[in-house]
Amino acid sequence: MKNTVNQSIMPKTAVINENGHLQVGGCDVVDLVEKYGSPLYVYDEETVRSACREYKEAFSAYPDTKILYASKAFLTQAMACIFAQEGLGLDVVSGGEIYTAYKAGFPLERAYFNGNNKSSEELELAIDTGVGRVTVDNFFELALLDSVAKSKETTVKILLRITPGIDVHTHEYIKTGTLDSKFGFDMTQLDEAIELIKEEYSNLELVGLHAHIGSQIFEIAQPYNDLIEVVSKQFALIREKHNIELTEMNVGGGLGITYTQVDNPPSMFELAEVILKAFNKCNEEYKLNSPTLIIEPGRSAICTSGVTLYTVGSAKQVPEGRKYIAVDGGMADNPRPSMYQAKYHAIVANKANETATETVTMAGRYCESGDILIRDIELPETEAGDIICVFNTGAYNYSMASNYNRVPRPAAVIVENANSDIIIERESYDNLICLDKVPQRLSCKKPEGVL
Ligand code: LLP
Repeated sequence: MKNTVNQSIMPKTAVINENGHLQVGGCDVVDLVEKYGSPLYVYDEETVRSACREYKEAFSAYPDTKILYASKAFLTQAMACIFAQEGLGLDVVSGGEIYTAYKAGFPLERAYFNGNNKSSEELELAIDTGVGRVTVDNFFELALLDSVAKSKETTVKILLRITPGIDVHTHEYIKTGTLDSKFGFDMTQLDEAIELIKEEYSNLELVGLHAHIGSQIFEIAQPYNDLIEVVSKQFALIREKHNIELTEMNVGGGLGITYTQVDNPPSMFELAEVILKAFNKCNEEYKLNSPTLIIEPGRSAICTSGVTLYTVGSAKQVPEGRKYIAVDGGMADNPRPSMYQAKYHAIVANKANETATETVTMAGRYCESGDILIRDIELPETEAGDIICVFNTGAYNYSMASNYNRVPRPAAVIVENANSDIIIERESYDNLICLDKVPQRLSCKKPEGVL
């Protein structure tokens, strides 16, 4: 792209076209807004597919690796179809994610069901739809899953999630591996859990262990080395104490991505190198029987393929202070800046060749002072109607979006080879009230107005 923006921030197909507009997947984004409205999530199919392929290639040195896409980052039926076609599995964490994948025709034997408080209805749904594995998080769930499996006269293959006691440098809210965590069995509890599986829970078959240390991780060497060491050691101990040869080792997701110009995360290939080196070393050291290696990336598989387009509305210059420009979306379609102080990069998509002349703060439209999408970004001068493209909104944006302030959620389109297709419709006001019920005794006189 003809400007100074770091290319790894944006979808692979992003270019500036002859009109000076940003183009993604061969589609001028200004035309996309005209056609589908604003704000708009745009996903570049080529970037998603190539992330899947790169992950597979990166781990190809160990052919018995399963790559599960962590659906929590972003899942729709169309996306489930893409991951199915690319041969990935899915990490699912709710009945809703299972249902979405099932309805899309995703082969659910490739799905692993994670989560620290799955309900019996969700566990039943997992069994009924043929979800391949359940990763059990705690003692309560062991008992629950066994009773659900018994009621269905079936046996469920399970992994146990452990808390590996590993700290990583990332935001406090997205660390998961430290000992004081709500997720997983403490390692001192594993023996008891396994005894229970052997003695009481006859409808559960233990096949592996799972651990996940956090998300948006940049320093990979030490944490993943430690993680694989810890998990492999447990494999050896379990064989020794319980005479069970585990066959699946899931080391989670977590690879960081480039949100802004200053981020410099390792690549998938570097991650694979670290993981495979540690895995091979531990396989040898603990004489493991070459278990299936499982990784479950979310953000790094999807984030860069997605951008959000907003339209500029009002602006405010604080006398001798900041200049704010307000867009038509904000914290409800992207809660990450207000939740995690996340930083993003953006350009004015219809002025993509123009040089930046001012520093502005991009505010959202929601009724909270904290609804700031990007603080102090340099942009060309903007006016109402300009289209701003925020990069790297593919993961944990739509999936965490809300209807705060009763604003309908934006549409999402997928672009490819100059085609664009809706994958999520824009919500309407009727969608917003479709679940409302007004008890008779509260009912007001219905309006006879314009709507
Ligand atoms: N596996 C497990 C068990 C997880 O909990 C997660 C993410 C993943 C895999 C995928 O991690 P990833 O490759 O995406 O880093 N909402 C936060 C991120 C929460 C991550 C939750 N778990 C954010 O917007 O940054």
